[in-house]
Amino acid sequence: MTDSVKLNAAGKDLDLKVMSGSVGPDVIDIRKLYAQTGMFTYDPGFTSTASCDSAITYIDGDEGVLLHRGYPIGQLAEKSSFMEVSYLLLNGELPNKSELDGFTHTITRHTMLHEQLASFFRGFRRDAHPMAIMCGVVGALSAFYHDSADITDPQQRMIASHRLIAKMPTIAAMAYKYSVGQPFLYPDNSLSYTGNFLRMTFGVPAEEYVVNPIVERAMDRIFILHADHEQNASTSTVRLAGSSGANPFACIAAGIACLWGPAHGGANEAALNMLREIGTVDRIPEYIARAKDKNDPFRLMGFGHRVYKNYDPRATVMQQTVREVLGELGVTDPVFDVALKLEEMALNDPYFIEKKLFPNVDFYSGVILSAIGFPTTMFTALFALARTVGWVAQWNEMISDPEQKIGRPRQLYTGPTQRDFVPLADRS
Ligand code: CMC
Repeated sequence: MTDSVKLNAAGKDLDLKVMSGSVGPDVIDIRKLYAQTGMFTYDPGFTSTASCDSAITYIDGDEGVLLHRGYPIGQLAEKSSFMEVSYLLLNGELPNKSELDGFTHTITRHTMLHEQLASFFRGFRRDAHPMAIMCGVVGALSAFYHDSADITDPQQRMIASHRLIAKMPTIAAMAYKYSVGQPFLYPDNSLSYTGNFLRMTFGVPAEEYVVNPIVERAMDRIFILHADHEQNASTSTVRLAGSSGANPFACIAAGIACLWGPAHGGANEAALNMLREIGTVDRIPEYIARAKDKNDPFRLMGFGHRVYKNYDPRATVMQQTVREVLGELGVTDPVFDVALKLEEMALNDPYFIEKKLFPNVDFYSGVILSAIGFPTTMFTALFALARTVGWVAQWNEMISDPEQKIGRPRQLYTGPTQRDFVPLADRS
């Protein structure tokens, strides 16, 4: 480990400080670079840039490691609950029994939406994508909760965070109910966070809904697997939006908008659509050939990751959960066989080996969600529901970091240099 690195730029010798975290790559502190040399760095997609320091989540992409506050994702998925993981992400430590009870009680008491919000849903077309509804409705929360809008007050920030975690299942379930033309269900606070979400989604007022414990556990585990993933695109979006001091609900709506894209959260929907399109094992080679063809924009959805150059540890848990859920529900979905075979063939193909492309969290999640009964359009909405806790934890960390400034990247300008305006009559 070195304390500094030397750089000769613009005819100047600079000593740039090297900063070390608790684990992971060191970073070169370039904050004074422009002031001292008049030069910027160039890094589209931030492939080599640390935008902040953070104590929440650590990923070692080469080894396939994901830690939340130091705890491996596999242990959390196996032994913990989404409420426990949410407390951990927000507060830094696992809760004891009374802390967990208190946290769960607080979240439970915030599950209802302002009644006026129901009319927002009715303004959407019935065939609106749930992510379009989520963006709109979550952004609209900023017009309802003025008592948690002072982001300089840690207590108000925490109230806004609790509200967001608590209300996301209600909003996601209402988006689903609206699309199928069924009445909205109010939350039932006697149920768990996840059981309540399942009831609001699949229950109807005419019948009692009995939560299947295996499905509840699988769903809870899916929420844990999606809870946070350090400085990914949507989290960076939330941080960037929040860096201007924007309203927390509006910042999370920005994160939802970013998550929607098929290269990010939208990949789970795209992955299942792809597996269904492939349909049978004998058609896999055709799709693998297309994914490798430079002239074909097609990519294997649910494969590859900016950070993981090894098996995504979330995909390992997800694959086990598929087996459990399909077994419990007695569902035999040929799409799972296609997924297993596609994984096997891709992992033995030189193209995928050389580029270190492995299944990511989205490769198997669609198979489970579909077996539980969710339409593909809901998949990304579920990701948004679960990721909300990561977003608010990262947003809180940023606001309370004295070193943070408004996010304002620079650019390499390649447009015309200054020229004089030409009146319309003189233009050819
Ligand atoms: N299928 C075929 N080729 C691929 C794939 C794929 N899924 N992913 C990457 N490649 C190739 C790509 O063509 C490129 O080849 P070359 O070097 O010859 O130009 C090389 O691998 C590197 O790809 P990249 O696009 O430069 O890598 P990236 O880090 O910018 O992109 C990614 C990462 C996740 C956007 C990309 O792997 C991808 O598009 N995967 C499919 C979508 C997907 O599953 N996304 C979910 C990500 S996990 C959930 C989340 O965190 O949101």
